[in-house]
Amino acid sequence: MSDHPPQRIPLTLWKKGHFRQLWAEPGKTLREMLLAQGETPYQGPFRQLNCGGLGICGSCKVEVKENGEWWERRSCQLRCFHPIEIQVE
Ligand code: FES
Repeated sequence: MSDHPPQRIPLTLWKKGHFRQLWAEPGKTLREMLLAQGETPYQGPFRQLNCGGLGICGSCKVEVKENGEWWERRSCQLRCFHPIEIQVE
């Protein structure tokens, strides 16, 4: 058993022009980390109607900044290993 606290990776969330600093545990999915901190990648009815992170429905897509450009990614398929910046609607 380790006495070290879990590592935390900065996760910057942009939503409607405002940002919120969140954190991610290495290896966890972006979807898990958003939900654990009171945020969601889902819009409207997809908050209830989604595949629960199986990678099937596509309703968990968020914009992820990579190399200065925004790309659409399924948050349940993206594991956090380095600082990440995203935007949701
Ligand atoms: S939650 Fe269904 S594809 Fe991500």
